[in-house]
Amino acid sequence: MARQARRYVCQECGAAHARWSGRCDSCGSWNAIVEEQTRPAAPRGLGTGQGTAIEFVPLAGSEADAPRLASGIAEFDRVTGGGMVAGSALLVGGDPGIGKSTMLLQVAGGLAGAVPVAYVSGEEAVDQIRLRARRLGLADSPVRLAAATSVRDIATTLEGGDAPRAVVVDSIQTMYVDTLESAPGTVAQVRASAQELIHLAKRRGFCLLLVGHVTKDGAIAGPRVLEHMVDGVFYFEGRSGHEFRLLRALKNRFGPTDEIGVFEMTGRGLIEVANPSALFLAERRSDVPGAAVFAGMEGTRPVLVEIQALVAPSPLATPRRAVVGWDSARLAMVLAVLEARCGIGLAGRDVYLNVAGGMRIAEPAADLAVAGAVLSAASDRAAPADAVMFGEIGLGGEVRGIGRPALRLREAAKLGFARAIAPPRGSGEAAPRADIEITEIGHLNDLVAMFGPPRAAPDAARPEAGGV
Ligand code: TYD
Ligand code: MG
Repeated sequence: MARQARRYVCQECGAAHARWSGRCDSCGSWNAIVEEQTRPAAPRGLGTGQGTAIEFVPLAGSEADAPRLASGIAEFDRVTGGGMVAGSALLVGGDPGIGKSTMLLQVAGGLAGAVPVAYVSGEEAVDQIRLRARRLGLADSPVRLAAATSVRDIATTLEGGDAPRAVVVDSIQTMYVDTLESAPGTVAQVRASAQELIHLAKRRGFCLLLVGHVTKDGAIAGPRVLEHMVDGVFYFEGRSGHEFRLLRALKNRFGPTDEIGVFEMTGRGLIEVANPSALFLAERRSDVPGAAVFAGMEGTRPVLVEIQALVAPSPLATPRRAVVGWDSARLAMVLAVLEARCGIGLAGRDVYLNVAGGMRIAEPAADLAVAGAVLSAASDRAAPADAVMFGEIGLGGEVRGIGRPALRLREAAKLGFARAIAPPRGSGEAAPRADIEITEIGHLNDLVAMFGPPRAAPDAARPEAGGV
């Protein structure tokens, strides 16, 4: 007789343990282990009857066989790599209320003009979705709606005759497979439900868009296990108090992972932001010390962002270095180079760094702009209002060339910047543009010379520079 196996599964990381404990050995989280009953064997799928023979095809076939489905929402399509590939499964994660359902309803509406699309919600009633659709101007869209949570029911329906070409499931945490006893939202259910739906998508060749909620510590709830089951993982993020939203690829089997899509949440849904630089620089005040404009790249697209720094006398023995939107280790390095190679000591001062508008930058190319913002804050002199900066800083203080300078310069010129503070031009690089003047900087000392020495650490408690 088959014994009912019990196991204890961490709801944070999905690790299975033989016995319960308060803390998960695998990820270290507390009170996340829950008892789940399993069949002795691996969970059975819903499929019935015998398997069918798989069919091998030549590797040399053309991938044009799998055309991409474009939603017509350019920001979404670019992040997915030019539209979704038939049979692929994408996971869209994000905080509650950030706009996942809104975006996917709009995507469904965009697709529905060309192909049959289904939107299955386990969170909202059909009438609620209709209400939202009306707000989004999609009241007459041919999207097929359903409110359902049973994966068996959904699978049975999608197996039927005219299957849709794209299916949105909102959200995977509300779905359940009736062969498992655990509650919807548990790791076992999320995993089994996703597995069934993904298999179905591959077999029937439709695109599957799964919505996943994000836990407070930022992982898509439970299922880190989901991340390797799907073909793409996308995060939809925003900052409270800001109306814009970023869609970012964390993993993408069929496209790049460094693209971002920029949207703005309005009363009539999400609107694409074709020119994010203008948005990120919208609140900029160019006469304030402690800010520099960085000409960055997000994937294939240049994006200008403002980097803000604040240097203030510190009451602490170990001054604070706080960073939002950049790498704090990288800030420590820039400060160390400023101190060791340029004699700019910031000991005894707190340094705060902020990438304006809630952007997050990963490029080392931002080093020079960060140094510019810090120097501007420390010297209390505003950076040139009409200049952008980019360049990587080496440990010797040398400023190094970076990728795609021409694209960055073009974006800067387009937004009305007249100057760029940049690394020396490499031998193979194209001649500079006529519409933007380039100040080449070979060493960080050259940048220091532009701002002059830091103001002496004052005894007054007044912060030295604004900008934030
Ligand atoms: P929603 O898509 O329901 O978020 P999620 O599915 O990620 O939980 O978005 C809900 C928020 O978006 C809600 O606070 C209201 C706002 N919103 C608008 O501002 N404009 C709109 O047109 C819609 C549909 C929603
Ligand atoms: Mg939702």
